[in-house]
Formats: sequence, structure tokens, C-alpha cells
Amino acid sequence: MRLVLLGPPGAGKGTQAAKLSHKLGVPRVSTGDILRRNVAEETDLGRKAQSFMEKGGLVPDDMVIAMTERRLREADAKQGFILDGFPRTIAQAEALAKLTPVDAVVNLFLEPEELIKRNTGRRVCPKCESVYHVLTNPPRKAGHCDRCGSPLTVRPDDREEVVRARIETHENLTEPLIRYYRDRGLLVEVYASGLIDEIFQRILEGLRI
Ligand code: AP5
Repeated sequence: MRLVLLGPPGAGKGTQAAKLSHKLGVPRVSTGDILRRNVAEETDLGRKAQSFMEKGGLVPDDMVIAMTERRLREADAKQGFILDGFPRTIAQAEALAKLTPVDAVVNLFLEPEELIKRNTGRRVCPKCESVYHVLTNPPRKAGHCDRCGSPLTVRPDDREEVVRARIETHENLTEPLIRYYRDRGLLVEVYASGLIDEIFQRILEGLRI
């Protein structure tokens, strides 16, 4: 299965991509996670990407396309993948189409005020990249990762003003992809409000799996 997850910041792409990856046995490829790893490791790519990420903009297409192509050529992605956060522009979608066909594109949609609550309440594990929410998806021990026990942190781009900028970037640059994929008969629309497991069921029903 080669899947793309589209949706605004905080819609639940990462949460659902992890569940889909587990169920389908194909890797989750999150461009946001790869970029954050590069920032943390202070690579050349990370240094260049950081300034765009902290303002809520997009990292330039050429950098993200090259990075994603490298990742999709790795052995574990040969049988399929769940792309989380890529493509985000028409140029990225065209680059992806040249690299590999995709079977379906799930668009998770949610009201802006809900997106703000989800992003500002998010806590992440800097070690194993698990994602929590202080109210809706809390860890068993407050402030610590269930999987590896590390102290949880707040993503620097989850401050409210940056979240609003990310939502605007999504509306301007990524929403045109909804039409792009609908025109190609690949789009599955899923309302992303409700419990995590309910949304997962909606996705599976939409994909007929
Ligand atoms: P990225 O990391 O991809 O961020 P994003 O798209 O803004 O998405 P998020 O990770 O914020 O949200 P999500 O939809 O995955 O939600 P989550 O499951 O975590 O990208 C970060 C930055 O990198 C970009 O701004 C850009 O600068 C750059 N970048 C990345 N890809 C790029 C590309 N292709 N091109 C150019 N630049 C790129 O859930 C959110 C919260 O809600 C969590 O706390 C979760 O626990 C909670 N939650 C989830 N589901 C539910 C539910 N059903 N009910 C209640 N709470 C829920």
C-alpha cells in the first residue's frame, strides 16, 4: 500500500500514520520528523530548514524533494509507505508522481480552532518521537514517554502564533493538492474530529481495507 496523508497541522496525520504503518506493515515516512532530526543533529539541511520551520513556512521544494526521494529509495519502502507531510505543494506532488505511483490520498480535515487546541496541547518525545496530548492523549506518567520514559517536550513550532502561520501556509500552498488528487480519482476525505480509534476506522472504511 502506498498512501499519502494530507491535512492541516494538528489534524492527526502523524497519529494515524503510525497506526496505519503498524496495521499495514509499511514504514511511516514523515518529512517533518526527518527535518526535525536534521535540525537536532545540526546537519547542513537542518540548519537551512530551521529558519523556515520556526516561522511556520515550508522548507523549499528542492530540499524536501531530494530528501524524500532518498528516503523512498531505501529498502523498507519498496513494499509500500505511508507518507505523512509530503507532498505539500503541487511541485512536490509532481515530483512524487515521477518517482512512484500512489494508491490513495487521505485528506484529514478539521476546524481551525480544534487544530489550535491539538497543536498547543501536543507533547513529543525527543528520543523515540512518540506523540501525546496533555488532555486528549496523555502519557501514563505525566510528562514522560510511555515507550521509552524520556521527558516530553513542546515542539518549538507549537506556539500559538506559529501554529496560526502553519495553518495559513497549509491553506495557501497545500490545499490546492486536494483538487489535484480529487481530479486523479485518488482522494479519500475523512473528518478528523472524534476519538483517535474512531478516525482510524473511518480511514480504513474510506480505503476499503
Ligand atoms: P510536520 O511535522 O509535518 O507538521 P504538520 O503538518 O504541521 O503536522 P503536525 O505534525 O503538526 O500535525 P499532525 O497532523 O501530524 O497531528 P498529530 O498526529 O501530531 O511539519 C513541520 C514543519 O516541517 C512544517 O511546518 C514545514 O516547515 C516543514 N515540512 C514538513 N514537511 C514538509 C514538506 N513536505 N515541504 C516543506 N516543508 C515541510 O496530532 C496533533 C496533536 O493532536 C497530538 O497531540 C495528538 O496526540 C493529538 N490528537 C491526534 N488525534 C487526535 C484526536 N482524534 N483527538 C484528540 N487529539 C488528537
